[in-house]
Amino acid sequence: GCPVWIDTDMGFDDLAAILIVAASRPVAGLSLVAGNVALHQVERNALAVASMFKWDFPIHAGAAAPLKGHLETAHYVLGADGMPGTGRKLPAVEGHAQPDALGAMIGFIEKGGRDILAIGPLTDLAHLAEARPDLLTLPDLRLVWMGGSAGPGNHTAAAEFNAAVDPEALAVLIAAGVQIAMVGLDCCRQVTLTLDDVAPLRAHPSERAQLLADLLEGYVRIADNGHRPMALYDPVAAAAVIEPDSVTFTPARLDIELDGTLTRGMTVIEWRARKAAPNALIATTADAPRIRAMMQAALLRAAGDQ
Ligand code: BDR
Ligand code: CA
Repeated sequence: GCPVWIDTDMGFDDLAAILIVAASRPVAGLSLVAGNVALHQVERNALAVASMFKWDFPIHAGAAAPLKGHLETAHYVLGADGMPGTGRKLPAVEGHAQPDALGAMIGFIEKGGRDILAIGPLTDLAHLAEARPDLLTLPDLRLVWMGGSAGPGNHTAAAEFNAAVDPEALAVLIAAGVQIAMVGLDCCRQVTLTLDDVAPLRAHPSERAQLLADLLEGYVRIADNGHRPMALYDPVAAAAVIEPDSVTFTPARLDIELDGTLTRGMTVIEWRARKAAPNALIATTADAPRIRAMMQAALLRAAGDQ
């Protein structure tokens, strides 16, 4: 299959998304972006999982701060390391990712790479669009982004987290004419997990499976300590990359609110082509059973089951 570049802020659902891609496509590399946690913690998480899963693709540090203003992280939901567990933690890894995410992404596209999965704030992609406006607008380039919402937000009432952290970055991409395939909250919320979904990993004897089970359980417990179903976010966008018919998209006009005091970071979608020419593809439905199965299979495989 064609290689995929992944831009991530390395929460647990990011890890699950990367494992889903890696199960069926070569991962060309990762660029890291500040979001869930500060960039140095994103780097630590990425290096820890890379050593755990013996990833051999390059990992490059990208933007530490959004285009404008200060980074707002999600530590209030995710804890200091961005990966709440229920016991075991990722191994502490010293060191840094390689520098220059921008150069690495340019190299990926120049060498023919056409699939990019973005599962964090869009800062790195905006830097790419500013440095090389010719690349992300290549007609066969596919940029799938988990972010935004066609309904309510999660970070604020109006704004989804990845959109809210760096709204200017999305505005840059839209202004540059980049066609984004947006997998927003409303689509991702069709695919949910409960504590029962931890059982297959728990039943697996390996230490790695138990760590993944702890991290998955920590993720599910984000929603009311596991009493409500927890949406799967980034894995839905990963599914859209590797099995395009698992998510359906509708062309529409995508914009982002930059100014509203209550609505900054809100993605505004005009579905009516007679009002505005479509510039994006918006995910509307996700095949939940299939995507849940993809995630279970990818985690079990990563745990050493196959
Ligand atoms: C997004 O925010 C992050 O915490 C998740 O990994 C996902 O990318 C959901 O709003
Ligand atoms: Ca993410």
